[in-house]
Amino acid sequence: MRIYKTSDYNEMSRKAAHIIAAQVTLKGQSVLGLATGSSPVGTYKRLIELNSNKDLNFSEVFTVNLDEYKGLTPEHEQSYRYFMNDNFFNHINIKAENTHVPDGMAENPELECKRYEELICSLGGIDLQLLGIGHNGHIGFNEPGADFVPCTHCISLTESTIEANKRFFDDVEQVPREAYTMGIKAIMQARCVLMVISGKEKALIAKESFLGPITPQVPASILQLHNNFILVGDEAALSWL
Ligand code: F6R
Repeated sequence: MRIYKTSDYNEMSRKAAHIIAAQVTLKGQSVLGLATGSSPVGTYKRLIELNSNKDLNFSEVFTVNLDEYKGLTPEHEQSYRYFMNDNFFNHINIKAENTHVPDGMAENPELECKRYEELICSLGGIDLQLLGIGHNGHIGFNEPGADFVPCTHCISLTESTIEANKRFFDDVEQVPREAYTMGIKAIMQARCVLMVISGKEKALIAKESFLGPITPQVPASILQLHNNFILVGDEAALSWL
């Protein structure tokens, strides 16, 4: 595990963007696993700048997103497909058909999970997986539970996640109760995992995840076993280091 402690969110975003840029520069056809949420927004902004300055080319890149709310259309402003288009894909020279997010409107959830899992395999797995972390230690929407779930699955969100995500909706009732998420296997098989973490409210879960025992009760703790895991966080989030 490599840890970079930065002064603030902007520096964290700059560092993470440079790591992703290095990956894409070295391998034009990289498969990037991507995340939504507040943590990676600054990273996407820096990558957009690099792309618009012609310092970075996404034309051969493939992406697979970690997760999507069940029941939200791609046009819904809180869907993760909308988020990715709005915060990243619409501003870089990536081919739309090379970007993948689970289909929140799939008629058959089981088939959708199977399709997404097969898609990740058919792309040859993930070169670099970008992650945020939930206050309860979730990665993607792999929520705390009795086991680490290996494959893409549909999950009931915990009350703490619904509470944390209600800030994006008009009221808590509108937060979907279920979501699709990539499983732990695809994340752990990624050739590099890069987590961005910011803010003092994430300090405790970061300490539990990376200094505590490896347990499915703290899903991110499994990253201690990854042989190419990079943690980029600001001072507030990594104050325990
Ligand atoms: C989003 C995702 C989630 C978030 C996590 C942190 O695609 O996979 O695990 O990374 O909930 O969210 P923020 O960054 O908003 O604190």
